[in-house]
Amino acid sequence: MTKNNKPIGIFDSGLGGLTILKQVHKLMPKENLIYFGDTAHVPYGSKSKQTVQEYSLNIAKFLESKNIKMLVIACNSASALAINTVKKHSKVPVIGVIEPGAFYANQKTKNKRVAVIATEATIKSDAYKKALKRLDKGLKISQTPSPLFVPLIEEGLISDKITHMVAEKYLAKVKKNKPDTIILGCTHYPVIKKLISKVVGKNIYLIDSAESVAKKVKQYLSNKDMLKKTGAGKMEVFASDSPERFKKLSKFAFGSPLKTVKLKKLI
Ligand code: DGL
Repeated sequence: MTKNNKPIGIFDSGLGGLTILKQVHKLMPKENLIYFGDTAHVPYGSKSKQTVQEYSLNIAKFLESKNIKMLVIACNSASALAINTVKKHSKVPVIGVIEPGAFYANQKTKNKRVAVIATEATIKSDAYKKALKRLDKGLKISQTPSPLFVPLIEEGLISDKITHMVAEKYLAKVKKNKPDTIILGCTHYPVIKKLISKVVGKNIYLIDSAESVAKKVKQYLSNKDMLKKTGAGKMEVFASDSPERFKKLSKFAFGSPLKTVKLKKLI
């Protein structure tokens, strides 16, 4: 297989990264894509750094065995805790979600007040805070862990009353700091973007890093002349547990249900 035709590997702890898969496919429909959702271990956001690094390395190894040309960590928690470890062991270029999201937020904010909502692990790592401060030291950054969103989304409770109540509780805290921009610092959150927007109001801009990540991937491959030039791209999706369930819920994050999801247990 020529270098350009090799697939791009993308992974997340579960469904959330499908929001990235969708944008990558939309922007580069010719690319072959392999996705891995670690449903056996979701959520990553409440686990230790060591555990998330171990899971991420195993997945990276599996995807590299599929002859990928690039690896996208479509998970904020794994990007925050494990990107350096994965980069160290990987033979292919690795892109995470934190830098593109921070870059986009810094471009959008006018009042220089940026809020980050994410998993506990991502918030604790301060990865967004550091990335934002590197872009502009003057930014006022508030961070709010929102751990219940991931299990609610993985349960498919997208427009349920209970998710609305949880959103009201978390976002009341967020609004107190008067941000004009909120980073959805977890790839699961774009699935409930409409609900979040309804709760915080239309004047607050929501940063969904999927688009900026897809753009960064395209830019990188194009600069290195690694884009696939002809033919429609193929997509292969793996889950480490309950592939049927994953397939059923995939429509929430991917927009339409995935046709096939294969089981791949790693540990
Ligand atoms: N979607 C992931 C993230 O962006 C992981 C959520 C989780 O597994 O806790 O952080």
